[in-house]
Amino acid sequence: MNYQEAEKKLKSCGQEHLLAGWNKLGKKAREALLAQIATLDAKSLAACRKALASGGDAIDSSKGRAPKVAVLKGKALAEAVAAGERELSAGRVAALLVAGGQGSRLGYDGPKGCYGIGPVTNAPLFYFHARKIYARSLRYGAPIPFYVMTSEANNAATVKCFEDNGYFGLDPKNVFFFTQGMWPGMDKDGRIIMDAPGHVFMSPDGHGGLLAALKRSGALADMKKRGIKSVFFFQVDNPLVEIADPAFVGYHVMQKSEYSLKLCAKRDPKEKVGVPMKFGDCHRMVEYTEMTDEQCNRRDKSGKLYFLYGSPAIHVFDRAFLEREASKQMPLHLAFKKIPFVDASGKVVKPSEPNGYKFEKFIFDILPNAKVAAFLAFDQKDEFSPVKNAEGGDSPATCKADLQAKWRKWLDACGVKVDASVPLEIDPAYALDASDIKKNGICLGAD
Ligand code: UTP
Repeated sequence: MNYQEAEKKLKSCGQEHLLAGWNKLGKKAREALLAQIATLDAKSLAACRKALASGGDAIDSSKGRAPKVAVLKGKALAEAVAAGERELSAGRVAALLVAGGQGSRLGYDGPKGCYGIGPVTNAPLFYFHARKIYARSLRYGAPIPFYVMTSEANNAATVKCFEDNGYFGLDPKNVFFFTQGMWPGMDKDGRIIMDAPGHVFMSPDGHGGLLAALKRSGALADMKKRGIKSVFFFQVDNPLVEIADPAFVGYHVMQKSEYSLKLCAKRDPKEKVGVPMKFGDCHRMVEYTEMTDEQCNRRDKSGKLYFLYGSPAIHVFDRAFLEREASKQMPLHLAFKKIPFVDASGKVVKPSEPNGYKFEKFIFDILPNAKVAAFLAFDQKDEFSPVKNAEGGDSPATCKADLQAKWRKWLDACGVKVDASVPLEIDPAYALDASDIKKNGICLGAD
């Protein structure tokens, strides 16, 4: 793209101020700015402005009802596990990780997946995910291809982390990295923000950017070629997640579901998690900010919370459903943030108050489009303890404690008592659960 083309494009969408400082830029900076302008797409910019004008796509949750949530036990659980095991043995299951986030709350300088969480070895989050996939593939004798979404900002460091660690034992042929899109930030009038002279402020387009990125990168086509039917979706910050859990995959397949969600009972009525609700014939995810106090605290006759279940973002998708959704426009959500900007004199200002909007797409916005959706309850303590904050709740400290409590429970089931003061870590490739420990025996001590 040359200057004239850039000018024409920007004029057509009311963003010509991006070229205001052009004369002060050197050759390299000019090229970089033109490259950034080339990535801006008029349709997306119009969608951003529309979202700004309407205040974003919020849901009126007042007519929502609690969805039907399955709690699998006994025969029903055994049937679901058997169905999931058939899918895994036939190689019809893929794992899909969204790891493109900025991890700003944790404040770690690098991809969050590289953050050390192993209580003994300080192994990174990616290690626990990859080793589970490795072990699950071995157990069922078929590969589980692993699709990892990164962002432009963290893709190179993510790939390097896998390379430096020998892909954690996985065959690189079965690991597929792809990058999500970026959106520019805008001020309240819909003008794109420059965060440095000649540089447009861009941020990742949210985990919902996954759909377009899956299609653009060829990952969806790759899944089809490999005969994948079910896609297990999870987030990078939760090392307790049971990746490609046969019961969940099996339940999804038995229900002929297009979009299945694992749900856990909220820890308190106002826990900051999305809550799926039923509206007429379809389901939608309602964010905690969109629920009224009455809804958060509503109870049934037995005294249980009516909207008991929240979503920790553990899903199984039907691959064909993802294909169907990948070309559709998704709603945009606004986040009002402090974004550095270049003032009229060309100086960079770091605002002390939020001044601009980031735009994000959320994967759960495709839930209403699923012809069949299924919801499965699980125990939060066993499978969900995310690393979100540097300290306090949902921090590395709470996550490490929860990981060790889970492993201690497995050992306990094998008759081995480990005191809570003893640091403990189990390589998922050695044991995916207590049954592996029983089978493989126990070797105490780190090697
Ligand atoms: P979070 O909502 O926790 O955001 O992401 P974050 O960016 O990791 O952290 P903060 O809010 O800046 O502290 C939940 C999951 O979605 C992924 C993250 O990597 C994480 O696995 N995600 C989020 C993306 O892949 N892309 C995005 O644009 C946003």
